[in-house]
Amino acid sequence: MTQGTRLVVDAVTMRFGGLTAVDGVSFTAEPGDITAVIGPNGAGKTTLFNCITGFYRASSGRIMLGETALHRLPGHRIALAGVARTFQNIRLFGGMTCLENLLVAQHRRLMAASWFGIGAVLGLSRYPAAEREAVERARAWLEATDLLDRADDAAGSLPYGAQRRLEIARAMCTGPRLLCLDEPAAGLNPRESAALSQLVRAIRDGTAAGADPCSVLLIEHDMGVVMGISDKIVVLDHGARIAMGTPAEIRADPNVIAAYLGEDEPA
Ligand SMILES: Nc1ncnc2c1ncn2[C@@H]1O[C@H](COP(=O)(O)OP(=O)(O)OP(=O)(O)O)[C@@H](O)[C@H]1O
Ligand SMILES: [Mg+2]
Repeated sequence: MTQGTRLVVDAVTMRFGGLTAVDGVSFTAEPGDITAVIGPNGAGKTTLFNCITGFYRASSGRIMLGETALHRLPGHRIALAGVARTFQNIRLFGGMTCLENLLVAQHRRLMAASWFGIGAVLGLSRYPAAEREAVERARAWLEATDLLDRADDAAGSLPYGAQRRLEIARAMCTGPRLLCLDEPAAGLNPRESAALSQLVRAIRDGTAAGADPCSVLLIEHDMGVVMGISDKIVVLDHGARIAMGTPAEIRADPNVIAAYLGEDEPA
């Protein structure tokens, strides 16, 4: 478990009416790897993430995280199975402080510690200890994302790049085995992108905030980030997987070059 868990995406298809947004996509994300999913706009990357993270139920195919069949779980159970995500469009509680955002993310863990409230009524609660741990975990992630000095500021008042980091901190506070990042470098300046690369590597390696190593699935358009940190890259175009390999293999792949240049597919 400490080495992460293998994600197997097997022939996943997602249709919206007549549109096939994800078309029979298969790949594995190995434990302890950063696996990138790239492709032109509209290629189906976010839709694939939405299937893995339970926002959509795939039209067909299997998604396994270790022994857990994610494609069979209702959306709210997928977080409990150890999958956390960030969103292409930031979704924080803008009026709450950074610290509060990270505590809300741990709500389920806290509720479980108080036996969903019943223990508290009986005076048996482990809630105070669990709450202390939750605050400690939140502080550790604020520090790892360089936001400790903004702990008590409203999340909505942070600069854009800091909000992106807070989203990652929030996802990590749930203690995931698999972290799914949807365009975390979008809108970042080069210095912030470099810091992001370091943070994602540290999350993978288990050297951030005292957490265990965590496999990472990364959607990203910033090729500097993708080529710099990915162990493996999956390329989608028009919903289908057109290439898969190491950064060096992907860089040299004619199908990928054609997809990005918008040329007709090679015969
Ligand atoms: N809920 C939906 N209903 C209908 N069509 C959708 C829905 N979500 C996505 N699509 C369509 O599915 C296709 C893939 O969209 P998706 O957002 O997955 O692409 P993407 O690779 O994430 O693109 P981008 O790089 O622009 O974020 C697009 O044609 C999109 O319009
Ligand atoms: Mg997208």
